[in-house]
Amino acid sequence: MPSRYHEVYDSWKRDPEGFWREAAKGIDWYQPFDTVFDAADGIYGRWFAGGVCNTCFNAVDRHVAGGRADQLALIHDSAMTGKVRTYTFLELQREVVALAQVLWHHGVRKGDRVIIYMPMVAEAAIGMLACARLGAIHSVVFGGFAARELATRIDDAQPSVIVSASCGLEPGRTVPYKPLLDGAIELARHKPKHCLVLQREQLTCDLMPGRDVDLGDAMAREKAAGAWVDCVHVEATDPLYVLYTSGTTGQPKGVVRDNGGHMVMLHWSMENEFGMKPGEVFWAASDVGWVVGHSYIVYAPLLAGCTTVMYEGKPIGTPDAGAFWRVIAEHGVAALFTAPTAFRAIKGQDPQASFLPKYDLSKFRTLFLAGERADPETIKWAERHLKVPVIDHWWQTETGAPITHNPVGLGLLPVKHGSPGVPMPGYDIRILNDAGHEVPTGTLGNVVLKLPLPPACLPTLWHADKRFRQAYLDEFPGYYKTADAGILDEDGYLFVMARTDDIINVAGHRLSTGAMEEVLAEHPDVAECAVVGVADELKGQVPLGFVVLNSGVSRDTAAVEKEAIALVRERIGPVAAFKTVVTIKRLPKTRSGKVLRGTMQKIADKEEWKMPATIDDPAILDEIGVALHARGIGV
Ligand code: COA
Ligand code: AMP
Repeated sequence: MPSRYHEVYDSWKRDPEGFWREAAKGIDWYQPFDTVFDAADGIYGRWFAGGVCNTCFNAVDRHVAGGRADQLALIHDSAMTGKVRTYTFLELQREVVALAQVLWHHGVRKGDRVIIYMPMVAEAAIGMLACARLGAIHSVVFGGFAARELATRIDDAQPSVIVSASCGLEPGRTVPYKPLLDGAIELARHKPKHCLVLQREQLTCDLMPGRDVDLGDAMAREKAAGAWVDCVHVEATDPLYVLYTSGTTGQPKGVVRDNGGHMVMLHWSMENEFGMKPGEVFWAASDVGWVVGHSYIVYAPLLAGCTTVMYEGKPIGTPDAGAFWRVIAEHGVAALFTAPTAFRAIKGQDPQASFLPKYDLSKFRTLFLAGERADPETIKWAERHLKVPVIDHWWQTETGAPITHNPVGLGLLPVKHGSPGVPMPGYDIRILNDAGHEVPTGTLGNVVLKLPLPPACLPTLWHADKRFRQAYLDEFPGYYKTADAGILDEDGYLFVMARTDDIINVAGHRLSTGAMEEVLAEHPDVAECAVVGVADELKGQVPLGFVVLNSGVSRDTAAVEKEAIALVRERIGPVAAFKTVVTIKRLPKTRSGKVLRGTMQKIADKEEWKMPATIDDPAILDEIGVALHARGIGV
């Protein structure tokens, strides 16, 4: 069947407002919007202004009322505990109502912020939906972040309540969350009034009288009392959530997502981009702390009436490299969405895919990969063994949904290995040189998106309009800067090559090297430092730190390096995967004092590099080569 992609994309280009008006019919509105797009509202315009809606109603209640009450909505599969918990849409509604009622009793009202700092337990998704039900704004913080990162988010979002759990479960260790939560609140200037804590049997924690509440008990009481809370009417343009993502400094950016546009785009994407029909099972093997978890574990599948799988575990080691095949087979998964790292891990442990024949994957149709560059070898391996289309697609926390894709729902286009596909409706992608001029087809440049951004994209950063303009809009007037460098080919396929800022992508996790440098600089013996992302076979990239010690430091450099590594783990968290620091005598700089991080990365990765014309002292690069070789890096 020929793909309808070109016809659909062209119809959007001819009449963008008509296109989104039609897509908005997939959502139930309490009150229709006044305009599809109001160019005069907000920073670059707002979608569906005047519309009144509720995201929880669309994700849960309308399916209960519309004949899906007994269909599974959520399957929580924990490879860590060996337990599976399932919720029909009706059961999910009961849980969400109970948690919403607990929030309500603890003072949470429309517009209030609620931080959710949880491992991959079902209550994390239930908590997000409960906030949406009340019109409260959730801000989920990934569990692998340390107390200080949480504190920064508490101070920025100023939540009245934090929802958390006693512990997370990582292979070989139980992660106590409560000390991290308490530590963060101690560090933060803003103090939440209450913490709702889920006690997990693997490790319970003490609760602070007056502030902390046992979430499980409180929900059980609400259920016994037959609690009910209506979905609160919110404006389409009201925020649904704030999700913090790495920026170029230690201060993360609070990406704001609204209710109306977000629902319209996600609902449209499920059928047209991911090829999913209501009633089918979708599994995004990510974490609710990331945008993939927000969009494709929680909201999109539920908005579309699909069953969603929430998985607590890893692709390998829980217990083996067949873990993903087990989940697909056991729950009848039609499509899996994960990061290429997960497949590199499986391929590394089980190159022949010997676990695969043990499982019935007959319902499995498509594998979707995103979050980092998908290397062609990994894609080919997955295609060969799974015998289904393997679809790379590209997007960002800021956009909330794919920018480029190969839309299986509209009909598959030819797959080009190394490319995450073609622009989706709503996206007019251009490649500009640094002076802001479009470059010829096939030329590398800055990937930018012509304004306005489509529904689901961030309207601004939380309480930071100026930073939003500076970070994304000022450099190329009329365009949104993605900070990715790439190439558009003659068929309109995009190739994403690298970031143009200091963001690195570690196992699909977006991290700021600038934030790591800020932490290293805090070490009393460190005079100067630089962090670069170097290639890693499993995680795509990992950070590599360079430190120059203060003159007069006579301690063993290995001891300082060990402390520096521990400091990053303590301040940012284990997710940073910061494991290597190399002490050098001097940092290579340009004559104007700019650190030559790009050249350092190339030396470490053993890539070809040219002596920068502006370098202050070329001998420094030789010193770095020697220091790296001594550590077995770049040899
Ligand atoms: N709470 C506490 N700690 C966490 C955590 C959480 N929610 N998530 C991760 N961590 C810790 C891990 O335990 C690990 O700690 P360690 O340094 O003590 O080993 C560290 O953070 C890094 O975690 P991770 O990136 O998961 O690496 P890993 O080495 O444990 O596992 C993979 C490697 C490939 C199995 C893993 O990276 C993976 O499954 N990747 C898939 C990618 C993915 O889901 N990306 C999400 C975006 S779509
Ligand atoms: P995040 O905001 O965490 O989703 O990270 C977004 C960034 O991850 C993008 O700007 C890219 O640099 C990178 N990225 C995401 N998906 C892909 C992909 N399919 N191919 C290459 N890079 C990707």
